[in-house]
Amino acid sequence: MTTTVIGLGKMGRALAAALVARGYPTTVWNRTPGRAGDLAVTHAATAAEAFAASDLVILCLLDFASVTDVLDGVDLAGRTVVNLTTNTPAEAVKLFALVTERGADYLDGGIMAIPSLIGTPAATVLYSGDESAFQRVEEVLGAFGAARFLGAAPGLAALNDLAMLTGMYGMLGGFVHAAALVRAEGVPVVEFTESLLVPWLNAMFPALMDMAGQIDSGDYMAKESDLAMQVANAGIGEVSRSLGVSTELSDPLFSLMRRRVEQGHGSDDFASVIELLS
Ligand SMILES: NC(=O)c1ccc[n+]([C@@H]2O[C@H](COP(=O)([O-])OP(=O)(O)OC[C@H]3O[C@@H](n4cnc5c(N)ncnc54)[C@H](OP(=O)(O)O)[C@@H]3O)[C@@H](O)[C@H]2O)c1
Repeated sequence: MTTTVIGLGKMGRALAAALVARGYPTTVWNRTPGRAGDLAVTHAATAAEAFAASDLVILCLLDFASVTDVLDGVDLAGRTVVNLTTNTPAEAVKLFALVTERGADYLDGGIMAIPSLIGTPAATVLYSGDESAFQRVEEVLGAFGAARFLGAAPGLAALNDLAMLTGMYGMLGGFVHAAALVRAEGVPVVEFTESLLVPWLNAMFPALMDMAGQIDSGDYMAKESDLAMQVANAGIGEVSRSLGVSTELSDPLFSLMRRRVEQGHGSDDFASVIELLS
């Protein structure tokens, strides 16, 4: 199968390199020329020429607007278009309609990796949209990492991508607050992270599965650590403030936990806080 990669930014270049490494003949196009480095690819002079060159066309551009710019006026008929640009679920639905109306198949994707992980087992790419198109090109997409098809609704990959990033940012926010606390007392952050924080977070990860089960069932009754106990002492807030560490990251979460207790759910587990978000 011949492939085209449109967009040779940091991520697009890594995708093109992964295809070349697997031996797929690859054509590339980038708005600004000269971004392919020493990759063994064919250079298209225009986006239209790049689409015409291959059955499978992969887009990896900055945002939704850059994708619609590039698709404007290009003949898409007969192509399988895989868009790995980060976009919203609603934008994925718009692109699905726009591309399929012009006679091509559409898959929307979300890359769960940084460029250096592309082509390694640590990379996962989420896909949604046309399932038969996915099956046809799945082996090629495997060049990037694990290829996970989530369903026919075009926005599913974007939704899950953003949800996974939300989980990650919660963890990163907890990390910088924890690091600020120990740093305020002169504890080396690397030592704390390696010997205490990472083992602790690893020990806590299985609790996410228990909480997921509680959310799906709606039964939040705490077996071990209820919300009333968790907000009974103001330790994190008070200690942070006394050390001159901002509580901007933890305050919103603890105020939700306290509100849930005030509403009579003190014997629930932490997961019941979701009811204040939905
Ligand atoms: N880098 C990561 O760690 C990472 C991880 C996961 C997902 N992603 C996603 O991958 C996508 C690309 O990221 P990146 O890191 O490769 O970004 P980047 O290095 O900034 O590259 C952006 C690309 O978009 C092109 N572009 C921007 N506006 C355009 C327009 N109006 N018309 C045509 N081309 C346009 C740029 O072309 P020029 O060279 O001409 O400017 C360049 O090829 C983003 O949606 C990002 O969210 C990135």
